[in-house]
Parts: sequence; C-alpha cells; structure tokens
Amino acid sequence: MSPFHLTRTLAEDATDAALRADVLRGLALPQGPDPARPGGTPALKTLPPKWFYDAHGSDLFEKITELPEYYPTRAEREILIARSGEIAAATGARTLVELGSGSSEKTRYLLDALSGLRTYVPVDVSESALTQAGHALIAERPGLDVHALIADFTAGLTLPDTPGPRLVAFLGGTIGNLLPAERAEFLTSVRSLLAPGDALLLGTDLVKDESVLVAAYDDKAGVTAEFNKNVLTVVNRELGADFDPDAFTHVALWDAKNEWIEMRLRAHRAQTVKIPALDLAVHFVEGEELRTEVSAKFREDGVGRELAAAGMTLTHWWTDEEARFALSLSTAH
Ligand code: SAH
Ligand code: AVI
Repeated sequence: MSPFHLTRTLAEDATDAALRADVLRGLALPQGPDPARPGGTPALKTLPPKWFYDAHGSDLFEKITELPEYYPTRAEREILIARSGEIAAATGARTLVELGSGSSEKTRYLLDALSGLRTYVPVDVSESALTQAGHALIAERPGLDVHALIADFTAGLTLPDTPGPRLVAFLGGTIGNLLPAERAEFLTSVRSLLAPGDALLLGTDLVKDESVLVAAYDDKAGVTAEFNKNVLTVVNRELGADFDPDAFTHVALWDAKNEWIEMRLRAHRAQTVKIPALDLAVHFVEGEELRTEVSAKFREDGVGRELAAAGMTLTHWWTDEEARFALSLSTAH
C-alpha cells in the first residue's frame, strides 16, 4: 500500500486557543441595545463556521450532501464529471492540494483524470475526515502518495515539498463561508502558494432563486438544523459551557444585499449560558439570534474581480446544466 502521512500543523492546544479566542470575540459582547441595530437589539453574537466540524459535524455535513434540497454537491459533481478531463489537460498537475477536503468524495473524479498525479495533499481542520478519507484513498489507489495536513486554511499554510505543477482545489463552495474581508486575505494567501504553471480550481455556489437557497439550508428532515446546533455541543465539550441546544431554533435566511445565506440559532427564551473555561456568562434575550455561518453565493464577474484583486487570472468558467454552481480555474499573474 502507498504511504499515508498525517501532519498536524496546528499545535495540539492551538485549536483550543483558537476556539477560546473566537468564542470571546463572538460571544463576549456588551449587553443591551446596540445603537447600530434596529429595534433595541443587542450586538449580533457570532461564531465562525469552522467549529461545526468535529467528527459528528463532519458526518452531519456528509448527510447534508445527500439531502434532496441540498443541490451544491450534486451540481459540483456534475461539473467535475464533465470537466475533469479538461482540468487535467489544462493543468498537468503532479500534486493536487485540496483545501477543506472533508470526505474527498468528489475529488476522485480529479484523481482519476490527472494521469501524471503523484501526490495528494488534503488539508482540513477535521482530523476524523482526513483520516477516514486518507485511509480509503491509499487502499483504492496504490501508487498515490497521500500527505494529509490538519491545518486551518485561513491561518497561512506551509505545504510539503512535492513535485509541480501543483493544482490547488477548493471545492464545495466553502469559500462562501468566509466573510468578504477574510476571503480577500485568504485568496491572497492562496496566490502566494502558486508558482508559475500552478493553478487554483475554485468551486462557487451561484446566486439563484431565494426559495431554492433557503430550502437548501433548512431541509425538511432537520439535518441542517442538527448540524447548526452541533456548534453548541462543540463549545460545551471543549470549554465546559452549558448551552442547551433545545433552547435554540435553527434559522436560515437570505440576505439579498450581501447575497449570502445566513444560518443563525434563535434563543426561544431569555437565558444565560455559562462558559467556565473563559469565566464567562453570556446572556441571550428572548428571540436573540447567534450567527453561526454565512454562505455567500457568487456571480461570474464578482469571482473574476476577487481573483484578480488577489493576483490571479480566471482562465476557465464551467457551470452545471442548470447554472446553479460554478467551477473556475485560475493562474497567478
Ligand atoms: N470539500 C468537501 C467538504 C466541504 S465541507 C465538499 O465539497 O464536500 C467544508 C470542509 O472544510 C469541512 O471538512 C471542514 O472541516 C473544512 N474546513 C472548514 N473551515 C476550515 C478551515 N478554516 N481550515 C481547514 N478546513 C476547514
Ligand atoms: C461547506 N459549506 C460550503 C457548506 C455551505 O453550503 O455553505 C456548509 C453548510 N452549511 C449548511 N449546510 C451546508
């Protein structure tokens, strides 16, 4: 069997420190009405979406990808099936780096098409997802060197020294889970990973009818609601907090101005949550919402502009038949 290396680029306690910092930043806010918000509402509490993905959260995400309402995975798979040959011809990649690789399920179309590929570098914060995917891949593909990295792709990556050309793939529309300023910083850091001849393959979900979008994030079976509440379970386990997930309702709303879906958790009743590891008590008024994720939806011109601003040139743009989702290929300029 070919080699499987797993490298932790996050120190064992870095995740803990990062979670503490994010919880303090997002939940330790001044109480009382925020003059910048309507109707005497308190400042919006937030948590970044990367904390969804413990082992249970990663499993729930895989269930989401199979829901009838959640079209992005199927749409992106359709494009990969149709275009992986062209992607392989255009890039000739010998190393495939994948950011936020999760189960690496759709990646298999690229692995099949890239005939000169030697090394696959999946990068994810979820150790369980990386381990499962990595072991499955080396069993399936003798000769493929899998060098998995447990890392936060927003924190500046150091990649293993592997043969070029490199293709950096960022699939699933996960770029939409970054806020615009984070996205700009992230794309600039991706640009710095690209040598001449390397390329970025980027998956972006596209703006479409609000009802289709909201249904994709508020499925009938309630899997997305469970995924959303899982972030509370993570904070309970890691920081000893006493969030009661049943005291919150899952909310998915379309923000037409920002062209993004927001997932929130709405407190049914006034409550105070204790977070002993931070010596913090967080008060929620009745109906108060905690934002747990944005999922931005894109248009071709906006993607091209953001890539250009980060020093890249979009060379290919492919969509599925129904133009729900796009894959783009870019090179550094
Ligand atoms: N690419 C897969 C998985 C998408 S789910 C697909 O298209 O189906 C998003 C993945 O990104 C999860 O596996 C999650 O653990 C990972 N992720 C989210 N934020 C991350 C971050 N900041 N750094 C590294 N991985 C992250
Ligand atoms: C990983 N990411 C692209 C998903 C999305 O659609 O924004 C995460 C997700 N959130 C709710 N459902 C799926």
